Amino acid sequence: MLKHALGYAMRPGPNLFSITIILFLVKDSLSRSVESADYDFEEAHVGLIISPVVSSNEVRQIEVYWRNPNFRSGDVIALFASDPSENVQPLWTYTPKTRNGIQKTRIEADFMPTENLTFQQQCLTHYVAWLRNGIIKKTNCLKTRPNWMHDRRHFLGPLRIRDVFLPGTHDSVAYSKIPGSIYDTLVTKYVITQDEDILSQLIYGVRYLDIRVGHYPNTEELWWGNHGFVQIRPLQTVINDVKTFLANTQEIVIFDIHEFPIGFGKNLSIHHKLVNYLEKELDEYIIPKSYGWSSNLDKIWSSGRKLIIGYDLQAIVATRNSVWTCVTHQWGNVRTVGDLYAHLNKIEARALRFINTVPRSAMAELTPNTWDVILDRLGGLRKMAEEININITTWYSTQWQHSANIVAVDFIKGSGIIETAIEWNEKRYQFAGNSTISPVRI
Ligand SMILES: *[C@@H]1O[C@H](CO)[C@@H](O)[C@H](O)[C@H]1NC(C)=O
Ligand SMILES: *[C@@H]1O[C@H](CO)[C@@H](O)[C@H](O)[C@H]1NC(C)=O
Ligand SMILES: *[C@@H]1O[C@H](CO)[C@@H](O)[C@H](O)[C@H]1NC(C)=O
Repeated sequence: MLKHALGYAMRPGPNLFSITIILFLVKDSLSRSVESADYDFEEAHVGLIISPVVSSNEVRQIEVYWRNPNFRSGDVIALFASDPSENVQPLWTYTPKTRNGIQKTRIEADFMPTENLTFQQQCLTHYVAWLRNGIIKKTNCLKTRPNWMHDRRHFLGPLRIRDVFLPGTHDSVAYSKIPGSIYDTLVTKYVITQDEDILSQLIYGVRYLDIRVGHYPNTEELWWGNHGFVQIRPLQTVINDVKTFLANTQEIVIFDIHEFPIGFGKNLSIHHKLVNYLEKELDEYIIPKSYGWSSNLDKIWSSGRKLIIGYDLQAIVATRNSVWTCVTHQWGNVRTVGDLYAHLNKIEARALRFINTVPRSAMAELTPNTWDVILDRLGGLRKMAEEININITTWYSTQWQHSANIVAVDFIKGSGIIETAIEWNEKRYQFAGNSTISPVRI
């Protein structure tokens, strides 16, 4: 039975639920009352995230989050080291008392080297299950999503990028993938935004990359991925990861260059050199601008090309066919969870009224001001991300799931935005088949 539950959670398609029900009836001869109990789990979600917080006694702590409008007292959430259908003992259990929630488990996730990830969806290490009366009703695992878009091409194909809910990373290049704990300095505390390199981000399911490029004519590499004025790593490293991913999947990736913080000067010659370099490196994958944001995914797939490069400078976009008008970044520049909510609520409400063909990215992070950084008032980007990432996930699965386009977060594995995006792309498609959109209970 669990296998079917897992299959339903992992694979798309309107028929799976009915297949699951039929299998229940045939194999387990379940009674009517159990069937109605299973209906309780149609809107339920239970997932695992990895906290970005690092300290001397905490690194990669696994957290369990859930959403279940029909939870009952006595239900149990359990964490397992392997597939719970194999009758393994849980490592940790918890009795939820609210419909939405998150709990720390004090259990550390293994460090997962990029080499261990494959281009097939995998469950990595831990599993979580929702149990009622000792029976597993819903399961999930820490998983990769290397093919999620192309696997759903039958319904994503007719959509434009603007119509898809896409997970993204903010300042994608400012990552630090390190096995042990890191003792942050004041600088790294406010510079590092991700825990996974670009290839891993893409394998986990990210499709929108937010790239800042610095030009350093006195270095051998010349082009660097930056976070503001801080030089993080050669752009070549990032490009190599993107190429590896594109060579092994059919996914569409947006490589959106948003700032040129250093070394570009006033005239356009350096920009043209950068575009020449991108063309030389990525030529076989670049979708020409002539396709444009109004193309649907089927049209892009049929081109045989998979990479959209956005460029935040109209003078360059106007003259070069390899770069597109960049995605609109929607920044709130806010410092509290409440203000972030207000910002996102405003942009998502507006998105339902004004449809633009250029995609937009909700920038779902807090922004420290200079004094916050100098005085370390907000505790660093890791702590700030931990504070909001589950709220973002909850909001985007219970309030803005119909309007969402790109949502870019810090420390992506500390949020459930990837599985939320995939789940809601499926549900939007299912709802579109009905004449009315089902109201979503929170
Ligand atoms: C990664 O792969 C290596 C080599 O196969 C293996 O020994 C190691 O246990 C793997 N790590 C994890 C966390 O799975
Ligand atoms: C632009 O800058 C480059 C060097 O950075 C210089 O060689 C070129 O003459 C400049 N072009 C214009 C039109 O100013
Ligand atoms: C954010 O999430 C936490 C934990 O689930 C919750 O207690 C809090 O009320 C949420 N804040 C907002 C503004 O929604």
